[in-house]
Amino acid sequence: MPTSNGPAPFAMAMERIAPTLELVEQAMRAQLASESPLIAAMGDHLFAAGGKRVRPGLLLFAAELCGYTGPRRIQLAAAIEFLHTASLIHDDVVDGSELRRGRPTPNSLWGNRRAVLVGDFFLARSSAMTVEDGDLDVLWLFADTIRRMAEGELLQLQYSFDPDVTEANYYQVIERKSALLFSAACEAGAIIAGVTRSERRRLAEFGREMGLAFQLRDDALDYEAGADQLGKPPYADLGEGKVTLPLLLTLKRCTATERAEIAALLKDVGAQAASLESGRAAPETIHLEPVVRHVERYRGVVDTVRRAREHVARATAAIAPFPDGAARQALLAAADFAVVRGS
Ligand code: IPE
Ligand code: IPE
Ligand code: MG
Ligand code: MG
Repeated sequence: MPTSNGPAPFAMAMERIAPTLELVEQAMRAQLASESPLIAAMGDHLFAAGGKRVRPGLLLFAAELCGYTGPRRIQLAAAIEFLHTASLIHDDVVDGSELRRGRPTPNSLWGNRRAVLVGDFFLARSSAMTVEDGDLDVLWLFADTIRRMAEGELLQLQYSFDPDVTEANYYQVIERKSALLFSAACEAGAIIAGVTRSERRRLAEFGREMGLAFQLRDDALDYEAGADQLGKPPYADLGEGKVTLPLLLTLKRCTATERAEIAALLKDVGAQAASLESGRAAPETIHLEPVVRHVERYRGVVDTVRRAREHVARATAAIAPFPDGAARQALLAAADFAVVRGS
């Protein structure tokens, strides 16, 4: 829900850097050249669907805040968006998802085998772009982020269908699978600007806190938004057996009988997902609504959004010592956007 009338501050901040973002788009398109016609087809499909370009925006703003507005930003912003693209392609295979950004996913159009390989193509292109830039610190940061993201997705599989998962487990997952990529985007901006270690740490912390807020909001949206708004089906997390914070809070607060009901549903979803090998239950055969109602009654969504706001406050505090100006305001708007966005 926007907090005021008129264009949202984050959209305005992105508008201000539109010419630079256009150069990032061009840099990405230039990297799609391949002997495989499938790369071109998937590339066109992905570009047509768009995406919010939040991570490139963060890298550009972070570098600007730290005093660098030169051309290296373009290449690295494109590299970080390619990392994101690869992670989405692979994530949709892992989750058996059929819809993203309001369109069929690569795995649903071309099958898992091709989607995995095209995801690899994007990862490799991203690494090549980073090598071309030539900064070993950034290269190490991106490599380490890819490792962490893979670990996050693996941990999530490990914790799926389990009603005993803890908040610490949940945070382990969301930090790795989402927050650290936001963090890497901001830290890379700081690195190329050549700021001090402590300033670099502040930018990394900003991105991490904002990323946690972003994923918490995403997990709340999964329970509250309609498919039109999300560009993907609602209650997908529950259908995949993911115990996200709205459900975790509900499990903590509900009665023993309700808990048993939720545990039984997770078990059913798990059994079906295993037999279908798609990683998710067929939505028409499992009734998720009773559990969704428990999540509503126990304020799972409302309190998840509140938690997201706490992370935004920490993100804001992390960049408080930097001089105020358009770049700092843009980052603050981005952090706010993490919790107010509707998709
Ligand atoms: C989706 O990220 C994955 C999450 C971390 C929830 P975005 O919401 O930034 O995806 P696009 O690129 O705008 O589609
Ligand atoms: C988001 O994963 C993070 C990554 C894509 C690695 P999710 O599975 O929670 O997000 P959506 O719902 O598919 O965007
Ligand atoms: Mg997913
Ligand atoms: Mg996933």
